[in-house]
Amino acid sequence: LASREGVLELDLTAAQTRIQVGGRQASVKAFNGSLPGPTLRVAPGDTVRVAMTNRLEAPTNLHVHGMHVSPEGNGDNPFVSIAPGGSFNYEFALPADHPPGTYWYHPHRHGHVADQVAAGLYGAIIVEDTEPVPVTRERVMVVSDLTLDASGNLAEVSQMQQMMGREGEVVLVNGAVRPQLNAAPGERERWRIVNACPSRYLRLRLEGQQVRVLSRDLGRLPTPEDITEVVLAPGNRIEMLVETTEGSSTLVAAPVDRGGMDAMMGGTMMGDNETGSGEPVELLTLTVSGAPVQKPPPVPEGPGLRDLRGEPITARRTLDFAMGMGGGAMMGSGGGEGDTTMMAFTINGQEFGPDRVDTPVAAGTVEEWTLKNSSPMDHPIHLHVWPMQIVQDGNRDLSEPRWQDVVNVPARSQVKVLIAFEDFPGKTVYHCHILDHEDQGMMGTVEAR
Ligand code: C2O
Ligand code: CU
Ligand code: CU
Repeated sequence: LASREGVLELDLTAAQTRIQVGGRQASVKAFNGSLPGPTLRVAPGDTVRVAMTNRLEAPTNLHVHGMHVSPEGNGDNPFVSIAPGGSFNYEFALPADHPPGTYWYHPHRHGHVADQVAAGLYGAIIVEDTEPVPVTRERVMVVSDLTLDASGNLAEVSQMQQMMGREGEVVLVNGAVRPQLNAAPGERERWRIVNACPSRYLRLRLEGQQVRVLSRDLGRLPTPEDITEVVLAPGNRIEMLVETTEGSSTLVAAPVDRGGMDAMMGGTMMGDNETGSGEPVELLTLTVSGAPVQKPPPVPEGPGLRDLRGEPITARRTLDFAMGMGGGAMMGSGGGEGDTTMMAFTINGQEFGPDRVDTPVAAGTVEEWTLKNSSPMDHPIHLHVWPMQIVQDGNRDLSEPRWQDVVNVPARSQVKVLIAFEDFPGKTVYHCHILDHEDQGMMGTVEAR
């Protein structure tokens, strides 16, 4: 990892790796042999060059999730495929006004994304602040989940689990099971949390400490917001400020009901066809003790978030995310009951086709998209390159500008977003960030020209 003026150069190798997970030997897939891969720290205006090598047995590639960079050529191009044994030189140039925040990287080779992310291929990207936030400590926390079999290999995934979106039995923070953190009273810590789980939603709570949100996905809120809990869909990030007081606190991921297929099947499906049931998971423990530190100065007001409302809208479209019987691949072989169902994951009636342009947009214009979910399960919808401003969630209009790059659309509901297709022409994708759904076809293409 070499850095010179404005250029970060990095070799990333995706390979099978033996590693300790929760006190046992596990065989995972990782970048540069570690879970998570190395954290990239860049500043707005920087260029990142990644020489990526594929030592896996399947094709792969690299995506810089949430980054506002070109999707073309050797940029953040989701159509690149690196064959086993091959390599590819990426280059990402951040504009000088790139929003600060916590982003992440992971493979994006269609058909292999869920398997590769679930196996351990992910890492954090930090885009540094332009106006510093006074804190006593910063922690980057990449949350992931996986299931190991008795011999420490990644467990097989049934077709039912793929349909529901797989949730791993073990939840890791930076590759560790329930790490123990220490702090002194009076600290202000900045926690940058990435939900790198393929399908698991995280309803985060940290009782006993004062917690405020500094950033959701990208940018920085004008003033930190007090919260008692926050829900991260797969792919979402949050930056929290934790003002420490003496005691021991546990960061818990409480269960999230993200719907299921029972309603759709008239209650006829057998087996585990509901999601997000189960017990709260303890992610980590923070012990605050010892001599208090001197309190850092108050957090100055941030630059605030831009508001696209009021700008001319050149097109209004509806994208309909659906799960339907028929049309999909035959779900045969393996698994348990219910596995012989035909299920298609579609957007406006179509499964992913890399050669089509599903949504041609005029570069430089603002569009309003209605993300409509006509299925009985939540879908977290993600668009590459251009972030989304949420303006209406269900029937509720949002008064403050709220920006995210993964927007949860609850079952049988809809969310309206505004998107400014600026800076980078090119073709890229939007998709459900339940990565099993993406791999099964719930992805479309958008091209700005
Ligand atoms: Cu985090 Cu298209 O993905
Ligand atoms: Cu992405
Ligand atoms: Cu989905």
